[in-house]
Amino acid sequence: MPAPRRIVILTGAGISAESGLGTFRDKGGLWTRVDLSEVATPEGFARNPQLVHDFYNARRANALEAQPNAAHHALARLEAEWPDEVLIVTQNVDDLHERAGSRNVMHMHGTLTGALCAACGHRWPAPRVMNPSDACPACGAPQTRPDIVWFGEYPYGMDQIWDKLRQADLFAAIGTSGTVFPAAAFVQDAARAGARTIELNLERSDAAADFDEHRHGPATRIVPEWVEDLLRG
Ligand code: APR
Repeated sequence: MPAPRRIVILTGAGISAESGLGTFRDKGGLWTRVDLSEVATPEGFARNPQLVHDFYNARRANALEAQPNAAHHALARLEAEWPDEVLIVTQNVDDLHERAGSRNVMHMHGTLTGALCAACGHRWPAPRVMNPSDACPACGAPQTRPDIVWFGEYPYGMDQIWDKLRQADLFAAIGTSGTVFPAAAFVQDAARAGARTIELNLERSDAAADFDEHRHGPATRIVPEWVEDLLRG
């Protein structure tokens, strides 16, 4: 088996869990405490923009206080030391990969640090606190929203992501339950293209059977170990 050259890594909330940022579907996860239809859908935003801004203002504050952990740093090391491309496709909206030093990162669900105008589509760096009355810096409309992809909306960068999955030699899913599409199908897309696939998770996810290999345990232990093994060849 030739050494993997092009690596695509999908990350989910589990990689940021040990940085203190919650997951969604674990015990006590965000969606077990908050009704996602109220705060993570366009309909919820139309109904109550203040509630949605309050929700993302709190998550933005948490993310700004959180620090990248050993798993984020290990992936940044892999990108720096690997002789070919390493692409992180993250479902996470925090910026811990970037703050750990990763550069080749795609946020398919948007970012807490981004703001979007629902009226004209203009994007700008989000202030720490956003309000429904904020005017868009470009068109002036009071229709600003977090630049987050909500349920029912189309994730960012899909054509490029599918293209990278088709070229991948190795696909890794880290800290994701594999329940939200299209990300949940990436392992099949990569396998169809001939990539080896590995799941790194605290425990077997419901999608575990789709992967060739598995490493289970906390990301801050298993991701650095995995990167070390890859770099040692
Ligand atoms: N180390 C490794 N994995 C962990 C850890 C940890 N310390 N803690 C939790 N996990 C794993 C869980 O076992 C679970 O498989 O992380 C996963 C978290 O799953 P979810 O909460 O469903 O998060 P995620 O897969 O990122 O959700 C995908 O759903 O709600 C939408 O847009 C949201 O991006 C999110 C998407």
